[in-house]
Amino acid sequence: MKLSDIKKIAIVGGSGMMGVGIAQVFASSGRQVTIKTRNVQTCTVTEDLSGQLSAFLEEGLINETDRDRILSRVNITADAIEAYSDADLIFESVPEVMEVKHATFREMERYAKTSCIFASGTSVKSITEIAAVCEHKERIVGAHFWNPAVLIPLVEVIRTEDTSDEVFQLVFDLLQECGKKPAKCLKDVPGFLANRLQHALWREAFYMLDEGIADAATLDECIKNSFGFRLPQLGPFENADMVSTELTLNIHSYMFQHLYSGVEPSRTLVELVTEGKQGFATGEGFQSWTPEQAARSKAVLFQYLIDQTKYRRSHY
Ligand SMILES: NC(=O)c1ccc[n+]([C@@H]2O[C@H](COP(=O)([O-])OP(=O)(O)OC[C@H]3O[C@@H](n4cnc5c(N)ncnc54)[C@H](O)[C@@H]3O)[C@@H](O)[C@H]2O)c1
Repeated sequence: MKLSDIKKIAIVGGSGMMGVGIAQVFASSGRQVTIKTRNVQTCTVTEDLSGQLSAFLEEGLINETDRDRILSRVNITADAIEAYSDADLIFESVPEVMEVKHATFREMERYAKTSCIFASGTSVKSITEIAAVCEHKERIVGAHFWNPAVLIPLVEVIRTEDTSDEVFQLVFDLLQECGKKPAKCLKDVPGFLANRLQHALWREAFYMLDEGIADAATLDECIKNSFGFRLPQLGPFENADMVSTELTLNIHSYMFQHLYSGVEPSRTLVELVTEGKQGFATGEGFQSWTPEQAARSKAVLFQYLIDQTKYRRSHY
């Protein structure tokens, strides 16, 4: 199969939080997208996609013609045969429950043609375990988008021991063609690539809070105003080369022994959850949040992501 052979993409669970963004990504590349939903009457994907596209239009990221074309390429069905039988790729975006993933993949294999690629959008589950119920495991990969799927560039493409080289490369190429920044995860490890890196940082931050070294707001600000400020432009390996590998070795030889390496979640985190302090949703978490502060945090993040997207489009 060639990249140009991937013309029709079905998204199962496509009316969910991730699915709508993923639909926009694929439809923007000119492909036909079918959202497989359980109930067409209650499915809000058209409204959600229109709202998402209006925000893009307002920000000048697309024009009205783009919007209309994207909308015209997306259709919705509850019929598995209609969704799957002529799909070249099926993207699974159903809830993170193994039984639901298994039932979905069984249904996909039942109706899809044998050349159809299956991609799972799971955040954390093993692709090998998800694929276990399928006969044609060579066509199955993970494709982990980050939320919001239209704005975060990375999609991790995860292979299992059974995934064919062709399928792995095709999904990578497809995502690249769709304007994403795919990354190959060569082994099906828990957390794939970026969540392992993210939570290595969170573990140390939460540990420092538990130990009373600084409060939560200070630690967040520390990250935002130091290495986090340059992080979009400078990863650890380029940074190590920049400051010299010798200096990096010197720092690691001294520091690693002092970093937290526990396997249990933070004490403070467990206490907050036990007390029902869920963060934005309840107004109390690591910090207190009024509804206005929580809304502002989300709005500031959204605008930052939009601005970053515009910056990247004009500079890369
Ligand atoms: N939300 C995130 O931030 C995020 C980020 C990256 C990846 N993911 C992954 O994406 C996948 C979907 O997550 P989401 O947040 O979009 O979930 P969601 O609950 O918003 O959407 C799930 C979709 O699946 C449908 N669905 C529910 N039960 C189903 C069933 N039994 N059979 C078939 N379809 C069913 C729902 O109608 C909905 O369309 C999960 O694997 C999740 O881990 C989520």
